Amino acid sequence: MGIQIAPSILSADFANLESEIARIPNADLVHVDVMDNHFVPNLTLGLPVVAAIRERTGLTMDCHLMIEDPDRWAPAYAEAGADSVTFHAEAAAAPIRLARELHRQGARAGIGLKPATPVEPFEDTLAEFDMLLIMTVEPGFGGQEFLDLCLPKIRRARDMVSRAGLDVWIQIDGGVSKATIERCAEAGADVFVAGSAVYGADDAAAAVDELRHLAAS
Ligand code: DX5
Ligand code: ZN
Repeated sequence: MGIQIAPSILSADFANLESEIARIPNADLVHVDVMDNHFVPNLTLGLPVVAAIRERTGLTMDCHLMIEDPDRWAPAYAEAGADSVTFHAEAAAAPIRLARELHRQGARAGIGLKPATPVEPFEDTLAEFDMLLIMTVEPGFGGQEFLDLCLPKIRRARDMVSRAGLDVWIQIDGGVSKATIERCAEAGADVFVAGSAVYGADDAAAAVDELRHLAAS
């Protein structure tokens, strides 16, 4: 699939989501952060808003669930129109069963790891997922500083995926900007979530193109 840029609407104006999403027609994915105030200390949006976004954009919708009990809730996000649903390894009771359920619903399944969660325990289960999300900040807020300590994990994840001959996308999320994206691409990431770096720019679409160009260089 190659390099993909996924602007996160967490840094958009929540009162004007339709026009904010219209600012990024060149995005590969639109990244929607669902937070429940339990798994992370912040609350954003849920199923009704995801369903409303689905009605207003043709972009591929990538839902990142930072919620407790994804086993119970994640399938409903696929039903609400998410093309891809990522839940956290730290929160899921039965990640393989959940990934299979998401696939049955026609969605892609992603598994997310917080910065202190190692990737090695997931090596044998990677084939169950379409995407591995490696958080490069502690989840919960936009605009945080990129954690360089995550780079070796990205490298190890890329090695695992290549060794196994899998087509699992490696997504990174948190602190991705013009200053950090090249390091991440070099380490092996191929899907880049960027919130403040895109929505903080006057020309959001130009920021997407610039990030894509840097990641590919
Ligand atoms: C944070 C979210 C991210 C957030 C990234 O927990 O998962 O998607 O929007 O924001 P930036 O790119 O500003 O670090
Ligand atoms: Zn996210």
